[in-house]
Amino acid sequence: MFQSVIRSVAHFVPSRRVTNDDLSKLMDTSDAWITERTGIKERRFVEDDSITTTTLAVEASTRALASAGWSADQVDLIIAATLSPDYYFPGIGVMIQRRLGCKTVPALDIRAQCSGLVYGLSCADGYVKSRQAKKILLVCAEVQSPVLDLTTRGRDMAVLFGDGAGALCIEAVPESEAHSRGILDSYLGSDGSGADVLCMKMPGTATPGFIKAADVERGVVHPQMEGKVVFKNAVTRLLETASTLLARNGLTSEQIDLILPHQANLRINEMVREQLGIPQERVFNNIQRYGNTTAATIPICMSEAAEQGRLQKGSLVMTLAFGAGFTWGGNLIRW
Ligand code: COA
Repeated sequence: MFQSVIRSVAHFVPSRRVTNDDLSKLMDTSDAWITERTGIKERRFVEDDSITTTTLAVEASTRALASAGWSADQVDLIIAATLSPDYYFPGIGVMIQRRLGCKTVPALDIRAQCSGLVYGLSCADGYVKSRQAKKILLVCAEVQSPVLDLTTRGRDMAVLFGDGAGALCIEAVPESEAHSRGILDSYLGSDGSGADVLCMKMPGTATPGFIKAADVERGVVHPQMEGKVVFKNAVTRLLETASTLLARNGLTSEQIDLILPHQANLRINEMVREQLGIPQERVFNNIQRYGNTTAATIPICMSEAAEQGRLQKGSLVMTLAFGAGFTWGGNLIRW
């Protein structure tokens, strides 16, 4: 048997900082409203249209590969997670394969929105345990700023999101050499009854002819959300995920060294933390600086936590995510 060991993690965000005050010049909002409701102070937006999701993904991947000491041609599987691909098709998995110069290995895209990393880790673990891959590059990347409605009409969504990418190198290590390290368990869920509660409907086959001028005029080409419904479901499903992972691995919340939660709203993460009875220093948040980078939130948190020395060899780590779909889940990892 093999264990899926995370050899490295890295992230990349665009240099352009957009503060709450910057947004308040474009729409009727304020730093006070955004900070109080979400915890966000600033986010990163790509500098211009030449920078795509693949650009960020490749930057993060290059850093992760260097840190693992792998060359691109050693990768035998690419898993990419995004809701903002460069093209309607193909996905960014093949774009990353091309840009990195990997061999003609399998490259797949996961469409699980904010749950992209937790679905991706579960998927990688499945490939490792079924002996189909040994060196996996898992990349989560988003460029969301170009589709946000940066006017007062779209302010409920526009203030939440940012651009960024994170990448992980995951290696199949024989159990005898892994010393209990690696992905220990994953729990995933979905509930399509929430599909219309948080979505971007265009472009898509539900709107024949794709995008018309009238759709642009009406603003239906932007992401839409019923924020309160999403909020309640997020808290419920994140707690369900944490308690399931703890119970089926015979653990208590005190034994978790660090939780890496999705960064959608600081209040969601605080509610979950309080209910789990975990002190603040054992939950990693950086939404204040990046907003919600969808699939990329958890790998960016993981990368910063590693840089800050908060992930030590042997640390027990839990990821927790909830997103559009609805999709949710988490992973238990021995670092
Ligand atoms: N600036 C100022 N006012 C805003 C605003 C903004 N950016 N966005 C909305 N408002 C206004 C609303 O129009 C509303 O005004 P009204 O009372 O006059 O109608 C008021 O603020 C309250 O809006 P509401 O939607 O009830 O706020 P909320 O407390 O639910 O907070 C969210 C909104 C989006 C922050 C919150 O619902 C949330 O975080 N939901 C979950 C988001 C999430 O997890 N998304 C991603 C999942 S992966």
